[in-house]
Amino acid sequence: MGLLSGLLEQVSAQLEGQNIWVLGPSLLGAVLLLSVVVNVLSQIFFKNPNQPPVVFHWFPFIGSTIAYGMEPYEFFNKCQKEYGDVFTFILLGRRMTVTLGPKGNEFVFNGKHADLCAEDAYTHLTTPVFGEGVVYDCPNHMLMEQKKFMKFGLTTETFKQYVPLIKNEVTSFFTNSPFFKGDSGRVPLSTAVPQLVLFTASRSLQGKQVRQALTTTHAALFHDLDMGFTPVNFMFPWLPLPHNAKRDKAQRAMAKLYMDIIARRKAGEEQEQEIDMIWNLMNRTYKDGRPLSDRDIAHCMIALLMAGQHTSMATTTWTLLHLAAKPEIQQALYDEQIRVFGKDLAPLTYEKLSELSLVNNTIKEILRVHPPLHSLIRKVKSPMHVPNTNYIIPASHFVMAAPGVSAMDEQFFKNAKEFDPFRWVGHEKDEDNAEKFDFGFGLVSKGTASPYLPFGAGRHRCIGEQFANVQLGTIISTFVREFEFSLPPGQKDVPPVDYNSMVALATAPAMVHWKRRQH
Ligand code: HEM
Repeated sequence: MGLLSGLLEQVSAQLEGQNIWVLGPSLLGAVLLLSVVVNVLSQIFFKNPNQPPVVFHWFPFIGSTIAYGMEPYEFFNKCQKEYGDVFTFILLGRRMTVTLGPKGNEFVFNGKHADLCAEDAYTHLTTPVFGEGVVYDCPNHMLMEQKKFMKFGLTTETFKQYVPLIKNEVTSFFTNSPFFKGDSGRVPLSTAVPQLVLFTASRSLQGKQVRQALTTTHAALFHDLDMGFTPVNFMFPWLPLPHNAKRDKAQRAMAKLYMDIIARRKAGEEQEQEIDMIWNLMNRTYKDGRPLSDRDIAHCMIALLMAGQHTSMATTTWTLLHLAAKPEIQQALYDEQIRVFGKDLAPLTYEKLSELSLVNNTIKEILRVHPPLHSLIRKVKSPMHVPNTNYIIPASHFVMAAPGVSAMDEQFFKNAKEFDPFRWVGHEKDEDNAEKFDFGFGLVSKGTASPYLPFGAGRHRCIGEQFANVQLGTIISTFVREFEFSLPPGQKDVPPVDYNSMVALATAPAMVHWKRRQH
């Protein structure tokens, strides 16, 4: 305590000094030092046995923000070794309790809505981008209904229609993109894949008009809106950053694009030739009898566009990189195509896609090694007891699930660090056998026993999984049909993860060399 009293003496001496302005910087330094000392001492002497251990940190408020932000998995693994599966860390003043392992995933994903709330954890980031009245800007029971409405538009019927649309987008991308001229070349996946994913999702799920607008009138607007979806906005929603003004303008313009399409459709100026998500949502009514308003539809469409864009683009990029690093798996995928489609490679169809078990296992494996979302968060609304411990997590704290940790744990997956799609052979249907529950948008896995949950579980589980599989399966199959690809000469492994984005991306440029196949 000598250090503390010495410090206090120094501070009071400075306050009594003649000129406080001259002493300013050293006063500030002293206050900072004092806060560090008080913070460290309180961690040593005031441990609460009824709350999870707090990860040691020097600075109050900042806590473990830097270690977590730079390498979340390294941080989680280190803390797990030191503190066990349940620990709390400070993220910019917020108390985040991480619960790892299948039991930890279960604790967060299947918490009761009265106890845990996703809205309070995410709305500051998502509402300015999606728009008001949907997803995390409405009561949870409305989100459950909105998810049910969205699921009505994600049927076998629509997927059958989407596969050729997505395939055509991919092949015309190969024809038109400057990265694919000639018989061989190099492509920076960090630039090419976001475009490809946007074109394929917009042409299928979002419909023809949205696809057209996104390469012409609305291309820059989409970019401005996308810039709202950044970690800085998640951490500091109150900062008056210039890109947020652009985000708000872009949000209004994108919403108008959808509302104009709806108005034209309602006026009978456009017939229902192709099924898309807008048509589907135009026919939906909440349980209380209110139809989904045009604005709600527009905002749901933006939410779907954004939810799929980042996750699918990260997954496509990682898949192509790992295949580039393992030509033998590329060859096995090509052989599978020949086996299923014949040596003349008949056109891809939805029905045949499900027969491509290696493609599906490759996607499964990529989502194990590189799940796009590393941290899923809820705000605690009423004190929660962590089963089999003495811990009570107080209201106003946050809880965090990180299923990517159990997915890379040797305890559950042999050679966990190895990208090996063949490990899933015989386990394709595991989730079908898992315990299910209907939270209001159809039966979904509760994820109770699974260490592998890239799409989450419980009431906030992803509804886009099947669409993502259709989109990714078609893109990857088309790539494998057209090209052989490899990492740049001298590069031994895939690039490291870049955590400076909302999803775990490959570090740019994520270059891949390609050679056109001679059929
Ligand atoms: C929720 C992952 C693609 C729409 C989620 C969640 C995860 C996830 C982990 C749970 C979030 C939480 O618990 O906090 C993924 C992955 C994807 C993918 C890995 C692709 C590889 C898509 C696509 C769409 C979509 C393509 C739209 C078509 C949604 C929606 C939710 C969701 C609407 C529900 C949010 C909630 O209820 O709070 N996704 N997603 N996702 N996802 Fe996906």
